[in-house]
Amino acid sequence: MTKVTLILGSPRKGGNTETLAEAFLSSSEKTARVDRFRLQEMDFSGCTDCRQCWSQGGPCVIEDGLKPLYASLKDSDAILFASPLYWYSWSGPVKTLWDRFLPFAYGDKPGAFTLEGKKAILVSAAGDAEGSCFQGLLFSFRRSCSLLKMTIAGEFCFTGLHGRDEASKRSELLQKLRLAGQSVL
Ligand SMILES: Cc1cc2nc3c(=O)[nH]c(=O)nc-3n(C[C@H](O)[C@H](O)[C@H](O)COP(=O)(O)O)c2cc1C
Repeated sequence: MTKVTLILGSPRKGGNTETLAEAFLSSSEKTARVDRFRLQEMDFSGCTDCRQCWSQGGPCVIEDGLKPLYASLKDSDAILFASPLYWYSWSGPVKTLWDRFLPFAYGDKPGAFTLEGKKAILVSAAGDAEGSCFQGLLFSFRRSCSLLKMTIAGEFCFTGLHGRDEASKRSELLQKLRLAGQSVL
């Protein structure tokens, strides 16, 4: 069974990115196990640049609410990043989480693990009408996945989604995501 770590980065429960991400996962209900993490409800802090993961190569030493997410990442096959576009980039909690991925860039020491080979999928929604608004987010996603040797398995960034429930009314987008999820997972 495929294992997916779903990172929900919007403070809106059931908002656009969550609706889009769930559509992606909907066709693999029987074939994939999904660990869902709603970052807004989790208690975790930012990277303190202590360099312990650099020098020791182990997992992050901060003892906080990210432990279950780190555990999920360890044996996941795919990581789905669902972030609304905030100021042309990640939402705050997703950016903070990316900072806490630093140990995976130095995972070549005993006891460490990396994200190498895992599939990475991006789902995002923006209020803007121009697709170019995603340039910064896509740059960050691609470069970060490349650095961590993850395989990008899908990028789904949709414009024109501003109101809370707008994605649920866009049946063509939901269908596109359902089909994509079926082929990726
Ligand atoms: C703090 C904040 C910053 C935002 N920045 C942008 C932006 O830079 N570009 C854009 O097109 N939309 C921006 N938006 C709109 C959201 O991306 C949009 O409403 C999206 O559909 C929210 O997804 P969600 O329902 O999953 O939270 C912003 C919204 C908020 C609350």
